[in-house]
Amino acid sequence: MAHKLFLLPGDGIGVEVMGEVIKLVGWLNREQKAEFTTDTGLVGGSAYDAHGVAISNADMQKALAADAVIFGAVGGPKWDKVPYEVRPEAGLLRLRKDLGLFANLRPAICYPALADASSLKRELIEGLDILIVRELTGGVYFGEPKEITDLGNGQKRAVDTQVYETYEIDRIVRVAFDLARTRSKKVHSADKKNVMKSGVLWDEVAQSVAKDYPDVAFQHILADNAAMQLVRNPKQFDVMVTDNLFGDVLSDAAAMLTGSLGMLPSASLGAPDKATGKRKALYEPVHGSAPDIAGRGIANPIAMLASFAMALRYSFNLIELADKLEWSIAAVLDDGLRTGDIAQGGTSVGTEEMGAAILKKLAA
Ligand code: IPM
Ligand code: MG
Repeated sequence: MAHKLFLLPGDGIGVEVMGEVIKLVGWLNREQKAEFTTDTGLVGGSAYDAHGVAISNADMQKALAADAVIFGAVGGPKWDKVPYEVRPEAGLLRLRKDLGLFANLRPAICYPALADASSLKRELIEGLDILIVRELTGGVYFGEPKEITDLGNGQKRAVDTQVYETYEIDRIVRVAFDLARTRSKKVHSADKKNVMKSGVLWDEVAQSVAKDYPDVAFQHILADNAAMQLVRNPKQFDVMVTDNLFGDVLSDAAAMLTGSLGMLPSASLGAPDKATGKRKALYEPVHGSAPDIAGRGIANPIAMLASFAMALRYSFNLIELADKLEWSIAAVLDDGLRTGDIAQGGTSVGTEEMGAAILKKLAA
């Protein structure tokens, strides 16, 4: 049975890096390494331009019916002034929410060849392999009320609501522990229980889940301390689980440790279907649409291709292929190939050249 991919390139460099995924999928089909069908939709500013919304209902239906959604990036200055409800990011948030993608996996791996591209000293990040598990469908991103009210006295009042229920914390913490079992068996749970009620509950639930995993080391950490420790001594971490907002912030920090945001993939997974065991899933690079370099063919496609490797691993159980693709990425870096973002003043190649080199390694 062919696997159904729904491609949402989005805006800016999203379109360019998706081009390399399309070539890869074409090659996998031709070589009969796997069987994929693809359909493509619009999200973000490009959807707004076409339909006046950040994603159309028709494309949402396709996303819901797909085995995996492959997502590029959204946004750009062109859409800075569009109404809040239809801003480009709203398309991504709707996908996460409506597909129930509560578990966001953000690995931060330091490729040996890039150890000097990091803003930290080589010895601090060489061999770095952190997995941030971010809750993605709750917390302050979606809590109600979420509004700005006019107080009528020249003042306004803005409210966002941080809200978590037990089941939401329980299921994401379990994802973290299950993944830790396949790695170095260490989980840190980051919250602000010293000032937030949602943090108190978060920790209470995390502590109780930890009891079901006696083989995994568990440690609570305050989110601010986690940010500090990430830049002080990042290799102390294996898996870090945290809420939607802290996860957004901490994963950007973790990403940069590895040298460039252009390197970092992510997977967003739903709960396994009771009947089939299949999870809804969306795969996207952590970086944005990079309007400053869009359209010039110089974007780094590695985060996008590594996100596709995560799709092979988590949605299609094509583990060997995923391993080989990840190895191919490391191999081209070892060969000295660099896009501008990681070139450190050296010579750099464009998006297509990088994609082609990775494909060549894969084919070898
Ligand atoms: C991310 C991004 C998104 C988020 C934006 C684009 C809405 O920063 O995926 O980390 O805040 O979740
Ligand atoms: Mg972010």
